Amino acid sequence: MSQIRVEEVKTSFERVGLHSHIKGLGIRDGKIQFNADGFVGQSEAREAAYYVVKMIKSGKFGGKAVLIVGPPGTGKTALAIGIARELGSDTPFVQMSGAEVYSMEIKKTEFLTRALRRAIGVRIREWRRVYEGVVKGMDYQLGKHPYNPYSQIPRGAAITLKTKDEEKRLRVSAEIAEQLIEMGVEEGDVIMIDEETGRVFVEGREGGEGEGQYDVSIKRKIDVPSGPVYKEKEITRFFTLNDLDVYQARQQGLVGAMLFGFASEEREIPGEVRKSVDEFVMKLINDGKGELIPGVLFIDDVHMLDVETWAYLSRAMEGELSPIIIMATNRGLTKIRGTDIESPHGVPLDMLDRLVIIRTRPYNADEVREILRIRAREEKVELSDEALEELTKLGVEESLRYSIQLLAPTQLKASESGRKSISKDDVEYVRKLFLGVKESVRYVKDYENYFLK
Ligand SMILES: Nc1ncnc2c1ncn2[C@@H]1O[C@H](COP(=O)(O)OP(=O)(O)OP(=O)(O)O)[C@@H](O)[C@H]1O
Ligand SMILES: [Mg+2]
Repeated sequence: MSQIRVEEVKTSFERVGLHSHIKGLGIRDGKIQFNADGFVGQSEAREAAYYVVKMIKSGKFGGKAVLIVGPPGTGKTALAIGIARELGSDTPFVQMSGAEVYSMEIKKTEFLTRALRRAIGVRIREWRRVYEGVVKGMDYQLGKHPYNPYSQIPRGAAITLKTKDEEKRLRVSAEIAEQLIEMGVEEGDVIMIDEETGRVFVEGREGGEGEGQYDVSIKRKIDVPSGPVYKEKEITRFFTLNDLDVYQARQQGLVGAMLFGFASEEREIPGEVRKSVDEFVMKLINDGKGELIPGVLFIDDVHMLDVETWAYLSRAMEGELSPIIIMATNRGLTKIRGTDIESPHGVPLDMLDRLVIIRTRPYNADEVREILRIRAREEKVELSDEALEELTKLGVEESLRYSIQLLAPTQLKASESGRKSISKDDVEYVRKLFLGVKESVRYVKDYENYFLK
């Protein structure tokens, strides 16, 4: 077997996610709560999802997959994330749209294989030199994004780490600063930074008075570490099979060109590379140095997949190293792409047979109101009661997503008028500027006759 040297993954920098408030399925003592873990209402679908989690945990989900069907904005993606969170806090969650397989760059099967392998994690244990402590201060230096002038990225940071016995101020690179922001590291968090690779680990929050703060955060309360800030420690590192594929291929000089995109010969990772990675991982596991963490591959707009891709996917589902596959669509009866055959949700019948189907329903005002409250808290937006009612009304009439999206511009409007809290007028003002989907369709229809034909 070839030796695989393991390097570290460089995470990409993302903005606050649309679903960052979803921490789980909101189950307490085996029961669905109306509002818990950031999830509101949609109880039937959440209960079904909870059964899926139980089946997965008891090893009774092999060869199956989940299909979530429901109208736009009814929480299909949120539900898939909730399932992943319930499976464990470091369960990989990989999201793709069915349409993405039609890339010009790589074959459909290669795209899908990468997605599948990104959704399988491997935890590797080893001794490393680390900086560890509770965060006592953080200063970011921000600069312009190299390609996108409208967004800012960190150039570096200075952080203070403290243990029971020592306090140290560290200057860290942009890569580390990005991770700190992405992971939402705050003062009071206990973190660890791997010296060699710059990887940041959030271990929990300073406190030590037990757990139980589920709704606010998923960080565990832990004791402040003792001893020096800089030390040697056994740590676990996390990779996906796809990370390992890429390292292995790069070491063999196979994917250099692919990664930098200036040559066309090798756009695919050869089968032997993947095979040697699989062997490497199995050996780690057998030697007790690592473990496998099957994650979730979420395929949205699954009606966009064509027959060939379905065939490939169905074979992959039977493989030994397969993630949990969750699909979603908002289509009813439609043609299976690449054929003239109509089928429910555009999914071939033999595949439908193996799917556990979960349905999501449109929200009522009480649900929309609670979801808006949660999102406002998450985006640090202050809403007056009347503004919340107005947004709730829009959420029911137009769509939940529309009203969530109005949070950011209404906040800007309020702060321009020197107020912290958003008023009803702000909402009314901004909603006239940005049309909802229904309104925009109405508008275009009304004015169709004036447009050039
Ligand atoms: N029950 C819920 N509780 C809390 N937040 C929710 C709930 N349902 C949806 N959301 C939030 O509302 C927004 C829209 O939901 P989501 O993107 O999951 O809908 P979707 O069904 O996937 O829509 P589409 O068909 O357009 O992909 C997201 O920010 C999501 O996190
Ligand atoms: Mg979605």
